Amino acid sequence: MSQAGKTKFQIDLRRHLREHYVNENLTHLICEIAEASKYIIHSISTGELGVAGTSNLYGEQQLALDVLADRILRKRLDHSRVVANMMSEEMDEIIPVSPDCDGKYSVAFDPLDGSSLVDVNLAVGTIVSIFEGCDLLQRGRKQVAAVYILYGPRTTLVYSVGKGVHEFGMNMLREYTLLQENITLEPQGNLYSPGGQRNLYTPGVEAYVQKLEDRGVKLRYSGGFVPDINQVLLKGQGIFFYPHLQNQPQGKLRLLFELSPMAFLIEQAGGAASDGRRPILDLQPEQIHERSPVFIGCKKDVALAEEFIRTLENQEEGPTEKKAKN
Ligand code: AHG
Ligand code: MN
Ligand code: MN
Repeated sequence: MSQAGKTKFQIDLRRHLREHYVNENLTHLICEIAEASKYIIHSISTGELGVAGTSNLYGEQQLALDVLADRILRKRLDHSRVVANMMSEEMDEIIPVSPDCDGKYSVAFDPLDGSSLVDVNLAVGTIVSIFEGCDLLQRGRKQVAAVYILYGPRTTLVYSVGKGVHEFGMNMLREYTLLQENITLEPQGNLYSPGGQRNLYTPGVEAYVQKLEDRGVKLRYSGGFVPDINQVLLKGQGIFFYPHLQNQPQGKLRLLFELSPMAFLIEQAGGAASDGRRPILDLQPEQIHERSPVFIGCKKDVALAEEFIRTLENQEEGPTEKKAKN
């Protein structure tokens, strides 16, 4: 079929990026990430599920798949010729790739999010955050792109370069072709995805959940950040949260390579993402592995969470409050 005759749904990822006038180097980078996902899929479906015998900076036991996925992405980015610096959940520090920053990008990624779910055959994903130049310790609002790949019953890729959020599906030829573009969220939803242990919720979060339950909002939680966010995005409604807990004031999820990219995508879809007080994208990271509480999804649902926290929890400045101010 001639190029002109191609229907919208046969537009592949590279063509979509070009038709949105995305910079050549950024187009190449996003396509390289898409290429890497094909090898990650192979490692998930064939790789052994055991532990790697090592642990990451968090002291979390690394699964062989975490390390393998990290190596696949690291190699691709290393050889892409458009990366200046990179870091991942599995690396202890930032890895320099190229000294010159012009025309290059710095990448923070979670090579395999939810890896502990693979052995029970639940969906997992890869999350990537992209900044222009050499600096990775920037507010999420400075990202130029965010991408995630969801390894579920189907393999899908979602990206934004700040011009809307678009979803691609992997076809039989292992190409990513357009499924839908300019995905948007309703102002309020009827599903919620609550992370963390309920008995450790703080008063404001506990009251918020009670309010959602009283409203008849349905609980949908898989334990995988990527599928849980993908559900909110593609249903066009809902809220995910992994809040500050009584014993974990910063929550569990990492700002640089989990929360900032997802917050970028959800805000591009007309939603919101907050740490309970301030937009995730306005938080200034101090170090590469820092965590933050997160409430992300429909704008009204996020605002309601902030209101419960503001009225029911003491107002002394939280650590993120200080950071975001300076
Ligand atoms: P990772 O596998 O990259 O360490 O991330 C796991 C995260 C995220 O996928 C999910 O939202 C969260 O862990 C679930 O945590 P709980 O198991 O505590 O609910
Ligand atoms: Mn993760
Ligand atoms: Mn991970």
